[in-house]
Amino acid sequence: MISMRTQLSFANLAGIETELLAVLAADTQTAKGPDAKPEPVLLTADEAVKAAAAAVLASGEYKAGANETLLLHAPAGLAAKRLLIVGLGKQAKATVHSVRNAAGTAVRFTKPRGIRELAFALPEAELLAAGPCARAAVEGAFVGDFDPDTYRSDRKDQSVKSFTLAVPAAAGKTAVEAAFAEGVIVGESQNFTRSLVNEPGNKLTPTILGQRAAEMAAEVGLGWEVHSTEKLHELKMGAFWSVSQGSEEPPALIVLRYEPASLAKDDGGPVLGLVGKGITFDSGGISLKPGADMDKMKYDMAGGAAMIGAMRAIALLKPRVRVIGVVCAAENMPDGKAQKPGDVQTAMPLTPDKPGKTIEILNTDAEGRLVLADGLTYARQLGATHLIDAATLTGACVVALGMINAGAFSNDEAIYAKFDAALATSGEKFWRLPLGDEYAEQIKSEIGDIKNTGGRWGGAITAAEFLKVFAEETPWIHLDIAGLAWVEDSRPYIAKGPSGVAVRSILEWVRSY
Ligand code: BES
Ligand code: MN
Ligand code: ZN
Repeated sequence: MISMRTQLSFANLAGIETELLAVLAADTQTAKGPDAKPEPVLLTADEAVKAAAAAVLASGEYKAGANETLLLHAPAGLAAKRLLIVGLGKQAKATVHSVRNAAGTAVRFTKPRGIRELAFALPEAELLAAGPCARAAVEGAFVGDFDPDTYRSDRKDQSVKSFTLAVPAAAGKTAVEAAFAEGVIVGESQNFTRSLVNEPGNKLTPTILGQRAAEMAAEVGLGWEVHSTEKLHELKMGAFWSVSQGSEEPPALIVLRYEPASLAKDDGGPVLGLVGKGITFDSGGISLKPGADMDKMKYDMAGGAAMIGAMRAIALLKPRVRVIGVVCAAENMPDGKAQKPGDVQTAMPLTPDKPGKTIEILNTDAEGRLVLADGLTYARQLGATHLIDAATLTGACVVALGMINAGAFSNDEAIYAKFDAALATSGEKFWRLPLGDEYAEQIKSEIGDIKNTGGRWGGAITAAEFLKVFAEETPWIHLDIAGLAWVEDSRPYIAKGPSGVAVRSILEWVRSY
């Protein structure tokens, strides 16, 4: 992975020699109404920078709206060749998350202009805490640097070579340095996830996803195993296998292990199980999807890729908690050997003496919950005491929440409180949806234990109820990222394409143990 070079600078902004110096501006106007004109101010104490921007800010041409940009060439009194002003929107509403996006906007501004190096100035410390801002800014820079056009034969590499974060000298240096280093790891890990999600189904089969995860694990020092058909049969993973059986491509059961060096073995502490849906292509199977937009189903492994990216960040950030990642990768295809609507499958038993739960397949397109059922059970068998899963699970979740919030579900208040707290750091939007016995009624089967669809209404919830059957009493969180895994329209700070959603939130949740 060739990556952007990043460094910190505590020097005076005016003296920084760079192709482009980006500074933030916010609108301080608090009044509303037709006469309330925007009042943009620069969020820096540097007098030379303020002087260079004074005329254009006074002109009224620039409003400092969120991610609104304005470029000045050869700014007087500055060593920088260009001064870019990036808006945060209303100052009262500005957060570290607006700074994350602004950094991405600055990076994406430079790319098509052939500028390969920039400095980005953090706002003054009184406004927003320097540490969290430094981390968010560098994360945002990595997010902005990613473009998905990797298979263009005439691709011009527009990636930024060097990103300098300029921090006011007053900010606590060691805290900023630590936060900055974290941001690099998180940003790179999120982009690693995005690079996996971006791959088409023919280039990233379950086997190749397993190889990519194994390479990463070896690089960062995670334990890893990648199993296939034989192991699925040995573990009696009847639900996972039922999805895979209709494809020429063998499945991959990817296991990643993080053991903190500082923890004694079997100290009775929590073991976090991260379970991801890794459908490298979802045709729907015999319940074939319509042709329109079927190509999008190459990103049906985004939940699994999020877990792999989160495991990378965990390996490098080294929290004091054990973590096991389980990604169930398969292709969902129609074939003479494919499973059929009406088939009954037996899921993996938690222990060999217990029977596995039986599942009536009503729709072969509801395959994500099948692979996750066995993935959740396997994570528990491996010792997970707390579970989190991520999946592009249901179109119903997209209908419910649009492409703004992803869905979240949980069977336990304490585990969910930790996840909710993690969102404040990650800046990602998840909205908790309900579970309940009345919903569970919808997935009871006449012939077996449960069926794999609960009908039209509340589809995201009945899918979550299905997974809950396999989490049993283990505290568990389910993330339905169907609507957010792929950015449908580019924004100033992120390209159209894979988003890497959930990596940051899962990571912060893990670090809270
Ligand atoms: N992978 C899809 C869900 C999906 C939809 C992901 C849109 C991303 C964007 C999933 O496997 C699926 O097909 N779900 C079905 C379930 C139904 C058959 C009960 C759905 O949502 O229609
Ligand atoms: Mn499907
Ligand atoms: Zn799917």
